[in-house]
Amino acid sequence: MREISHSEKEKRIVNPEQDSFEEERFDKTLRPRAFDDYIGQSGVTKNLKIFIEAAKLRSETLDHVLFYGPPGLGKTTLAGIIAAEMGVDFRVTSGPAIERAGDLAALLTNLKDGDVLFIDEIHRLNRSAEEILYSAMEDFVIDMIVGKGPSAKSYRIPLPRFTLVGATTRAGSLSAPLRDRFGVVNKFELYDDKELAHIIRRSAGLLEVDIDEESLHELATRSRGTPRVANRLLKRVRDYSQVKGSGHIDRKITEITLDALGIDGKGLEGLDRSILKLIIEKFGGGPVGIDTISAAIGEERVTIEDVYEPFLIQTGFLHRTPKGRVATSSAWLMLGLTPPEEAQAVQLSLETISNDLNPEAISNDEA
Ligand code: ADE
Repeated sequence: MREISHSEKEKRIVNPEQDSFEEERFDKTLRPRAFDDYIGQSGVTKNLKIFIEAAKLRSETLDHVLFYGPPGLGKTTLAGIIAAEMGVDFRVTSGPAIERAGDLAALLTNLKDGDVLFIDEIHRLNRSAEEILYSAMEDFVIDMIVGKGPSAKSYRIPLPRFTLVGATTRAGSLSAPLRDRFGVVNKFELYDDKELAHIIRRSAGLLEVDIDEESLHELATRSRGTPRVANRLLKRVRDYSQVKGSGHIDRKITEITLDALGIDGKGLEGLDRSILKLIIEKFGGGPVGIDTISAAIGEERVTIEDVYEPFLIQTGFLHRTPKGRVATSSAWLMLGLTPPEEAQAVQLSLETISNDLNPEAISNDEA
């Protein structure tokens, strides 16, 4: 039942997952290298600064740290800053890149005392690699069994005292033994418009892009609370301003670019609107199960959950219930439709529970 299609171009611009070598290079150019340049996530950075200072005072390594939250919010960047502030080397890998337990063992044995090992998408580590991590994190050793049957021998390999920084978009998918071995667990929140404007201003300065304040704020409000999207939009308006304008980014060029990318005044793009339209037009506003949405839209469930929903929930267009997803009355009105009474009831109850979303509710597991 594939009813709604969307172009690859639209998908790419808002999907905060990093998607090319060129973008990685671009991200690196703009990546802050110290707390002073890191904007937003103040709850997270405030705590980390204290823990880092305390570890340094005691000449100890920092405890293991877990970051969770939607993609593109600066988890890798902050892990790099931790390493820089601790004055140690920063090693980066990811769950899917570690195919065998031996790959992880090789990485761990090559670390030096104090080093920060960053494992992105740590929820995608395979079972045998994850099991190696338990003793590595807790006792700084790896237990290896060599050989089979009665002649098998167990070896214990000591490791340097390293800090593991794990990042995941889905805290709920982490096994309890792994989650429990992190001494510091931090949730990353979507950025507000002021923080995003600040980030875009900084990026424009580094890239020597000439952009006026109005355009800067316009881009900020359309960046889905995500620095990676904000920087990507800046890159696209820079392209438009060079080809269609004078090189200076003004309101007109910004509007032309955002229109061309299908991003509306609220920062929603094609797939966001498709999700809401589907729930409203085909299912009377919901509740609709996530797998039904995924099949109808032709987008993977995890992408809908990690990339699209956090922003739709934050903007108040979508609500997650145990029975499935429900479009709020704001979503009906935004699409020019009259909401039924149930949608208004959802809106009212949302307003009462407002900001205080439980962290697990953002990541996973309802219908
Ligand atoms: N680039 C990506 N994330 C950032 C942040 N939090 N602060 C500054 N620049 C960024």
